[in-house]
Amino acid sequence: MRVIADIHKMQSQAGRWLRQGIRVVLVPTMGCLHAGHLSLIQRARREAGRKGVVVVSIYVNPTQFGPKEDFDRYPRDLKADLALCRKAGVSTVFAPTDQAMYPGGSKERFDTYVVAAHLSQIMEGHSRPTHFQGVTTVVAKLFNLVRPVVAVFGAKDWQQAVILKRMVADLNFPVQMIISPIVREPDGLALSSRNRYLSPGQRGQATVLWRSLQHARKRVRHGGVGAARLRSEVGQLVHEQPDARLDYVEFFDGETLVPVKTVHRGTHMALAAFVGRTRLIDNGRL
Ligand code: PAJ
Repeated sequence: MRVIADIHKMQSQAGRWLRQGIRVVLVPTMGCLHAGHLSLIQRARREAGRKGVVVVSIYVNPTQFGPKEDFDRYPRDLKADLALCRKAGVSTVFAPTDQAMYPGGSKERFDTYVVAAHLSQIMEGHSRPTHFQGVTTVVAKLFNLVRPVVAVFGAKDWQQAVILKRMVADLNFPVQMIISPIVREPDGLALSSRNRYLSPGQRGQATVLWRSLQHARKRVRHGGVGAARLRSEVGQLVHEQPDARLDYVEFFDGETLVPVKTVHRGTHMALAAFVGRTRLIDNGRL
């Protein structure tokens, strides 16, 4: 397995692969890899085939964190990540520095952003106003540096996946987008690098996101339910947890993110909640 930090080395390697007709599959991550990430890597391995290569990028992207968010304390463990990648059959890990990705070491000398004008403003974007422009910009950069034919993302970040698919369609990136299912703990909690912030007591309460999804699934099994009503039921469930606070819960069309007034089977639900100081998200098709 090769580890590349230099963006010029990455770009020339990508050019060589392209000329040799080698199939490149990219899995973008912020590291601190867990079984959710590993499932994306396995999917990428299958997509690449025997002759193709899987590139995992590991980069904690500063532009997608708000000023009051956890950029500085976001968990980083490159050594453990590299061991996991090696075991998972990754060909190349691309781990660039901030200095290389955003020259000047700050955002001052970087001036060009990719923005999904509308989709970036709702749900996660409402709570985190500059988050998605950071995500779309860094993924556009990664696509230009690695030049994959396929990229694999997780359904865990549903809005992110929809926005990135829109970016690829709108800007004609020649990349096939694959969205891979959410990997969960046995009690339903979606795997996330941020779960390690939870105290044992909070960890128990964190299952309320999964229980909320299951509650909504049960409620729409025999017909439509008003979104406002379901929202207040989910609010109540979250409220019952002493350390949890609902940020939002939305019901919408899974492809377009357009909200619905009446929730049916097949409607998509997404929610975000703080458990203590930790912000968790989850989503699913009802
Ligand atoms: P990160 O949070 O590290 O996630 C990397 C990829 O893993 C994302 O596509 C995410 O949806 C997926 N993932 C995370 N937890 C998962 C789980 N439990 N099951 C399945 N997939 C899961 O998302 C980002 O990084 C960044 O925004 C990034 C796209 C890398 C841009 O910086």
